[in-house]
Amino acid sequence: MTDKYAVIGNPVAHSKSPQIHKLFAGQTGRDISYEAILAPLDGFAATIGRLRKEGYKGCNVTVPFKEHAFQLNIDGITISHSEDVDNAKAANTLKFSDGKIEAENTDGVGLVRDLEQNLGVDLTGKRLLLMGAGGAARGVLLPLRRALRRTDANITIANRTVDRARHLAKGTNVSICSYEELAGKSFDIVINATSSGLSDEMPPLPTDIFAPGALAYDMMYGRETPFMKFAHEQGAQVADGLGMLVEQAAESFYIWCGELPDTRLVMVKLREKA
Ligand code: ATR
Repeated sequence: MTDKYAVIGNPVAHSKSPQIHKLFAGQTGRDISYEAILAPLDGFAATIGRLRKEGYKGCNVTVPFKEHAFQLNIDGITISHSEDVDNAKAANTLKFSDGKIEAENTDGVGLVRDLEQNLGVDLTGKRLLLMGAGGAARGVLLPLRRALRRTDANITIANRTVDRARHLAKGTNVSICSYEELAGKSFDIVINATSSGLSDEMPPLPTDIFAPGALAYDMMYGRETPFMKFAHEQGAQVADGLGMLVEQAAESFYIWCGELPDTRLVMVKLREKA
């Protein structure tokens, strides 16, 4: 019997997840279906209830419902959170079983895997700058810190509203600063987790921010953001968020099916179509 999965969002029509999971299914020979489902803005929990009744095995959750997935509460259902979910206060992957929902967040694992495995970044001793202190930054901070502990690298968070960065870094050894305070500093990896690209804006970075051989990573994909353009002009290596998207999907697939698909082939196919 076909195992049913979906991604729930609003909007959701643009999502590449159905395409990615269908490629994973083809590659692993698993009999699964995967569709995009538009939920009303006030109807996330009701949509989850419907999917469970209809026998779905799980779903991905995208904008604006990741925080709703963290707060999800359904009568008679036990909901468990992974450490990454509690830390991010957001979930992007739900796994359904009898009387139970497991909530996971695979975004940060996806980012770290893209950096280390696809882009070949050795994080050992690296200076990493994370721009932004909203949901996207919060979603990846713990897995980044885990990779940092493993590799002895260090993280600085810069945000326009410094208080938000302070709040995010509270209780950790992550440094925080304003964009002005970045003057004179340089980093080996600069990650854009702000929403600035959506409005074609650019975080106010100083020009000497990239150390020689630095990587500029934008979590956005699909088009060149002002940050990517700036990084190109400054001679940095530039990566978009497509690899993170595919890697977070692969980790969700692993949570559901117990098998990690080969993401490289899928990435080649997606880039061909872009
Ligand atoms: P998301 O869930 O995408 O992170 P969010 O929670 O609204 O969305 O957070 C948006 C982030 O992008 C914030 O860190 C925001 O900075 P402020 O907290 O100071 O508002 C950041 N951001 C948005 N536009 C920006 C810009 N033009 N320059 C720098 N940072 C920007």
